[in-house]
Amino acid sequence: MVIQKICCLGAGYVGGPTCSVIALKCPDIKVTVCDKSVDRINQWNSEKLPIYEPGLDDVVKQCRGRNLFFSTDIETSILEADLIFISVNTPTKTIGNGKGRAADLKYIEGAARMIAEIATSNKIVVEKSTVPVKAAEIIMKILRANTKPGVEYQILSNPEFLAEGTAIVDLVEAERVLIGGEETAEGQKAVQDLCWVYEHWIPAKNILTTNTWSSELSKLAANAFLAQRISSINSLSAVCEATGADVSEVARAVGRDSRIGPKFLEASIGFGGSCFQKDILNLIYLSECLNLPEVAAYWQQVVNLNDYQKTRFTRKVIESLFNTVADKKIAILGFSFKKNTGDTRESPAIYVASTLLDEGAKLHIYDPKVEHDQIFYELMHPLVTSEPERIQKGIEIHSSAYSAVSGAHAIVLCTEWDEFKTLDYKKIYEVMMKPAYIFDGRKILDHEALLNIGFHVQTIGKRLSRTSSIRAQGSQTMP
Ligand code: UDX
Ligand code: UDX
Ligand code: ADP
Repeated sequence: MVIQKICCLGAGYVGGPTCSVIALKCPDIKVTVCDKSVDRINQWNSEKLPIYEPGLDDVVKQCRGRNLFFSTDIETSILEADLIFISVNTPTKTIGNGKGRAADLKYIEGAARMIAEIATSNKIVVEKSTVPVKAAEIIMKILRANTKPGVEYQILSNPEFLAEGTAIVDLVEAERVLIGGEETAEGQKAVQDLCWVYEHWIPAKNILTTNTWSSELSKLAANAFLAQRISSINSLSAVCEATGADVSEVARAVGRDSRIGPKFLEASIGFGGSCFQKDILNLIYLSECLNLPEVAAYWQQVVNLNDYQKTRFTRKVIESLFNTVADKKIAILGFSFKKNTGDTRESPAIYVASTLLDEGAKLHIYDPKVEHDQIFYELMHPLVTSEPERIQKGIEIHSSAYSAVSGAHAIVLCTEWDEFKTLDYKKIYEVMMKPAYIFDGRKILDHEALLNIGFHVQTIGKRLSRTSSIRAQGSQTMP
């Protein structure tokens, strides 16, 4: 089958950018991205896209209305599509069996049932959301149990490896595309059809094909390995703070070993984002279900260490501020889970902010891209607090870093936005309460310069001179 029309179910962080780039690179294919949320589709059709992603606006402007369409008319798009991407959300289950660990596949199941109900001709259905191993099997079971006469389905796994903030580059210059399919002749034919789409711009040698289950597991494994590297370097950051070593120096030396490599060795306040924790929890759940408790315990420790890092950092802030932050004004710089995105899912800033709020702090939050409502949504969420009204009173959101820091006792930097590196810290020092504290959770500031201005500075994985003489041993930190 030559793919002429593609439909994508789910216009989120994965479906939106991925299909925009497919439309850009395949002018001969009509790509329609659908969502059941009218709001979301309206935003995709407006000047202000629903997600912030460098380069995305340009791609959408070039293709929208040409061969890229955003629509709530799911029925028509499914009917006319040769190939359907399922790119719906797969949150961690919050109730029932596997609660807190297993992926909730209700949206995947919903999408599969929708396709089965609507489709009247052969379809290649491609699982694009991150889902546990054997999700393709679920889709297959639903589709094949509800197939109309004369309709055949091929189900492929084609996990997405893009990272937010660099999604467009990651898609345009993908290091690899992975496609898993059934080992039957029809399955292999469908794999080749999808390869043809990517070959519009990806060299054939970078397109890997495998069976469905290997493809699904590779996605979980890739994210688990990346998260594990961060937990590894973060564990060493605690050793560095206790010994006087510098974690950046350790990372530099370790990363020079080509077997290890230099990337993903930045110690931080912990990893966030919609994928890492969710995928590892999935892997843990899968291991438990397969009766492999040692494997589950191994990966669980990656998550535990990440929680430990967030707690350790926040505790350091509180202890440094004379062990009380009640009624103190604290500026939080950065709320997204990393720079160059407005996404806050699993952002470590949520833990830091909610703990400080629980201790009675008054938070003044600034992030260059996160919508103000989104910050309230995260901090007032029932899983975060049982007292949303009290929490709301403790938060003020600002539209500039300078207004957030005015009169603050401390600055807590949670996201590595470039603009935080070039703020006028002399001016900031002037308007803060004294002693003025900066906690750099991302190791991006010039600590020497800040110390010279007069700040008390703490960061991750390195003891700075003003605090080093006092904090000789043990876990207690003093200003
Ligand atoms: C190691 C380090 O590689 C070296 O840099 C350091 O100076 C000393 O320790 P060595 O123990 O001699 O060197 O051998 P290495 O090649 O690292 O293998 C260690 C063990 O890991 C072996 O038993 C090897 O079979 C095993 N291994 C290695 C695997 O099981 N899988 C791999 O992918 C690589
Ligand atoms: C990740 C994977 O990188 C991507 O391949 C996959 O498709 C989806 O999950 P994403 O979550 O968007 O992408 O961002 P990523 O750059 O991986 O960062 C995840 C978290 O790890 C962020 O909170 C980031 O700040 C943190 N991080 C990353 C570190 O703390 N240190 C590092 O060295 C790298
Ligand atoms: P991701 O980061 O995986 O892309 P998002 O939450 O950003 O996840 O996006 C998933 C999108 O999928 C949401 O906008 C949601 O409304 C949409 N969605 C969920 N189920 C369906 C469905 N059956 N049909 C169409 N869209 C769906």
